[in-house]
Amino acid sequence: MTLKTMNGAPAGASRRAFLSGGAALAGLAVATPRAFARASDRIEGLLAQMTIEEKAGQLSCFADMIRPPVGDMNPLVNIRNAQTLTAELQAGRIGVLMNGVGAQAALETQKTAVEGSRLKIPLLFAADVIHGFRTVFPIPLAEAASFDPHLAERTARAAAIEATASGLHWTFAPMVDVARDQRWGRVAEGSGEDVFLGEVLAAARVRGFQGKDLKADDSMLATPKHFAAYGAVTAGLEYNSVELSEATLREVHLPPFQAAFAAGAMTVMSAFNDVNGVPATANKRLLTDVLRGEWGFKGVVISDYTADQELVAHGFAADDRDAARLAILAGVDISMQSGLYIRYLPELVASGAVPLAVVDAAVRRVLALKEAIGLFDNPYRSLDPKAEAYHTATPAMRALSREAGARSIVLLKNDKTLLPLPKAGKRLALIGPFADDRDNVLGAWGGFFADRRLNVDLASGLRAQLADPASLVVERGCDVEAMIAGGFERAVAAAQGADIVLLAVGESQDMTGEAKSRTDIRIPPVQMRLAEAIAATGKPVVVLLRHGRAIQLEGVVRDAPAILATWFLGSEMGNAVADVLFGTVNPSGRLPVSFPIDSGQEPFFYNGRTTGRPAPADPNAQEYKARWRSIRNDALYPFGFGLTYTRFDVTDMKLSTPRLEWNDTLHVTAKVKNSGDLHGEHVVQLYIRDRVASRTRPVRELKGFQRVSLAPGAEREVRFDLKRQNLMFVGDNDYWIAEPGVFDVWIANSSVDGLTAEFELLPAG
Ligand code: NOJ
Repeated sequence: MTLKTMNGAPAGASRRAFLSGGAALAGLAVATPRAFARASDRIEGLLAQMTIEEKAGQLSCFADMIRPPVGDMNPLVNIRNAQTLTAELQAGRIGVLMNGVGAQAALETQKTAVEGSRLKIPLLFAADVIHGFRTVFPIPLAEAASFDPHLAERTARAAAIEATASGLHWTFAPMVDVARDQRWGRVAEGSGEDVFLGEVLAAARVRGFQGKDLKADDSMLATPKHFAAYGAVTAGLEYNSVELSEATLREVHLPPFQAAFAAGAMTVMSAFNDVNGVPATANKRLLTDVLRGEWGFKGVVISDYTADQELVAHGFAADDRDAARLAILAGVDISMQSGLYIRYLPELVASGAVPLAVVDAAVRRVLALKEAIGLFDNPYRSLDPKAEAYHTATPAMRALSREAGARSIVLLKNDKTLLPLPKAGKRLALIGPFADDRDNVLGAWGGFFADRRLNVDLASGLRAQLADPASLVVERGCDVEAMIAGGFERAVAAAQGADIVLLAVGESQDMTGEAKSRTDIRIPPVQMRLAEAIAATGKPVVVLLRHGRAIQLEGVVRDAPAILATWFLGSEMGNAVADVLFGTVNPSGRLPVSFPIDSGQEPFFYNGRTTGRPAPADPNAQEYKARWRSIRNDALYPFGFGLTYTRFDVTDMKLSTPRLEWNDTLHVTAKVKNSGDLHGEHVVQLYIRDRVASRTRPVRELKGFQRVSLAPGAEREVRFDLKRQNLMFVGDNDYWIAEPGVFDVWIANSSVDGLTAEFELLPAG
């Protein structure tokens, strides 16, 4: 990965360009696939023949289908029986079916739509393929810790290959919501708290899902979601309101969407939340003025699940009919699951409440999407039951899951070089509710389509690599939130008989994901008591943390000599953790979210602003500063942090010039040396700070990173390029601007350290 290069708006650029946000300024113009440039004759021909019911049908997506949808994913609403559904498909009253899978069932369903309906318009099959399908990869947050967009692209490609083989055309992923409050459960589904990392990974995942050719059998349409600012729900409470300045919306929450569109995403999902009082799903300013007007997005907007109907509960629509009207007028093309469009659009158009042209424009976009992936020419593309068997859970998929898992692990602590462990000669006790648990390796989304037979638990993964598998004893000790009879006693006895304890504690996958907000982000009390009992044996403890968000580490867990952040790593979790524990893989992950000292610091993120009374370095120095009574307002483990089994020295930071001309490029270089004994990879990070600006600026902002792979003793120079466009921010009147002045720049190992220098951005001309 190299530093984002930006082409930039010329001085005096139009308001539209300025308003277009960081990513658009980055030269990431929204891609307009040819299919969307102009509606084809075929589409115009269809439109001319369609009744208003058939039009509303194309704009309706349902989770109930002939092939049963996966339960538990969403509240079950509006479910009908197979007979009714067949009749509706034949009447052309449905355009998209979601969350049911299987090539054979899809084939039959498609036949019903194509051969049984008047206009023979094929269905789109969609699903939440978030981080793998049958083979599951690390949760997106874990994968973000790899700081490796190439990896994210490969896992998304692999997921698309499996999912399309099972009859799908479209995934509701990637989730690109920037999440700055770890209480929110859906932190697990995104790329964490940083904008730049979020942009890079959003683009990589879109490229991965869609592949190079949209018409290929294994290409899967991507949907960045949830538009917009869902990650900013107040207090991290799921579905809560969002109150956000225009500048923060544009600087923090919108750029990953722009990056996804620039990478070719042709659909987007509107969010559940409101933004400053206007629900996202009825938000004309966001869905039409910004998305289509400013950014030129030509693709399809789909609502989140019943989000249009929820406008009534928001107190924004008077009733369901009003909700349908508001959603379509705001720019929602497809209504997901509520059925409001099929129920109300015909009458809304007949009464003149919704212009026919608005409906026609939405239908054109949906048909263009179907045309873009070749569905009209071959409605049975991707619907080959033989391919399904061939492409599912292959050894290559599993190998990728294992590799991705190991690369997502972050080594937080390794006192006295306790790790890596030898594969022979030590007695190990693996203790904790996740020790041999196979139900909590995949993460919140992983369970739906996964082939759970593939799941590798920790105990199996470790035993497979130990010279003597009997040198590992396993005791759960307790459940995730409850005691097990005799569990503590057995666990303590196991620890006493061991040389080293591996303590697998943390959150269950049920404690993360949608609708799983937590008021505090600690390890459940029963597990802490277990940890205390184990620590009291005096044996060295390696913590294997299971989690879908940053966790507040406390007490004996925080103080253990070694800690690995192992997230939910997917099908190969046990093997991936063993690879890192035994040093087959040298850990190189970096935190994509800050670990606070205390839950009460949330929302906590590295790139906040200083305030007028920043906390002094000495906690006793002075009162009346921006700090808590009990703790410093620092991270326990900051964004970007992660250790390795070797040692990297970063030296010789140099700037090509201390004075950056308005239209010039500044090169920032440094040397990275592997001074340890093992091969390893280092993530070099570049941060900036704008010292004085017309709006107060973050204490640091990530602007680039590079992964450097070095043999022991080897050294390499890294180079980052900085342009004026990397220094821009949203100023007064919501314009993106760059201001001349002094900037700090760091080449760092995390968001709180590094070598530093300063330079000046000179005025234009
Ligand atoms: C609700 C979730 O918010 C969204 O991410 C998902 O795609 C839909 N349900 C469909 O399952």
